[in-house]
Amino acid sequence: MSPLLSVDSLYIRTVETTLVSGVSFTIDAGERVGLVGESGSGKSLTALAVLGLLPDAMRVEGSVRLDGHEVVGARDRDLVPLRGVSVAAVFQEPMTALDPLMRIGDQVGEVVRRRANRDGETPGRAEVRARVLTLLDRVALPEPERIARAYPHGISGGQRQRAAIAMALACRPKLLIADEPTTALDVTTQAEVLKLLEGLVRDEGMALLFISHDLPVVAAVTERALVMRHGELIEAGPVGPLFHRPTHPYTQGLVAAARAFDQALEAAL
Ligand SMILES: Nc1ncnc2c1ncn2[C@@H]1O[C@H](COP(=O)(O)OP(=O)(O)OP(=O)(O)O)[C@@H](O)[C@H]1O
Ligand SMILES: [Mg+2]
Repeated sequence: MSPLLSVDSLYIRTVETTLVSGVSFTIDAGERVGLVGESGSGKSLTALAVLGLLPDAMRVEGSVRLDGHEVVGARDRDLVPLRGVSVAAVFQEPMTALDPLMRIGDQVGEVVRRRANRDGETPGRAEVRARVLTLLDRVALPEPERIARAYPHGISGGQRQRAAIAMALACRPKLLIADEPTTALDVTTQAEVLKLLEGLVRDEGMALLFISHDLPVVAAVTERALVMRHGELIEAGPVGPLFHRPTHPYTQGLVAAARAFDQALEAAL
């Protein structure tokens, strides 16, 4: 069986410079893969390339095959059917996914309706509403009825991220891309949202591309990880060996830094 996602010799350039060079990796259906690396290493651009959402000014070479379709060079209208069915994304800042002028329930409802239409269903208002409340409940939002009526600015940052996850879930995508989905949240909320995301991905059997700075979190959530630096993929492998016996000096440095932080934390407690 061919992989769900196959990225082959991906280059992303601006007129001045090359931002991503020769990145290749695959993700199988149901597989959870981490993408780590320092700030500016090209993680988000790689994710945007998979979604076909790079700025027009960037030139892309190579191939991104997602669920049997080539994304590189595809017209936007050919990508619309892929988004939400083959792939959906959760970003660091939930407001990128949410419309500030629309009630949460209506936004999630729109995704529910669109996904149902694609499956050849035409659920009525009451059915859509019931599905929305179920989704809000699944992402552990308290009082789903109240949240459904609220506007994004009327709920907390953690609740907004849960609502964004509910929207991604409503798509029932084959691949979920989560780009630092908890970085903007406080530590306790981070842990809750991560646990939730991980559980939902496992329950649904979705594939996951999980982008994070946090090595221990990547090791807990994913099976395999990719390490990027300066736009290149420098190391990849199953998380256990990768984080216990990294071969590249850069990965060794990342692991050592994560260990030192853990030890400092333990010493302080
Ligand atoms: N719209 C843009 N125009 C020009 N350069 C950009 C643009 N977006 C990103 N870059 C550059 O591309 C490089 C990779 O950026 P990218 O956002 O992929 O990094 P990242 O690994 O996601 O970093 P972070 O961990 O900080 O999110 C960086 O040097 C960045 O400055
Ligand atoms: Mg980024």
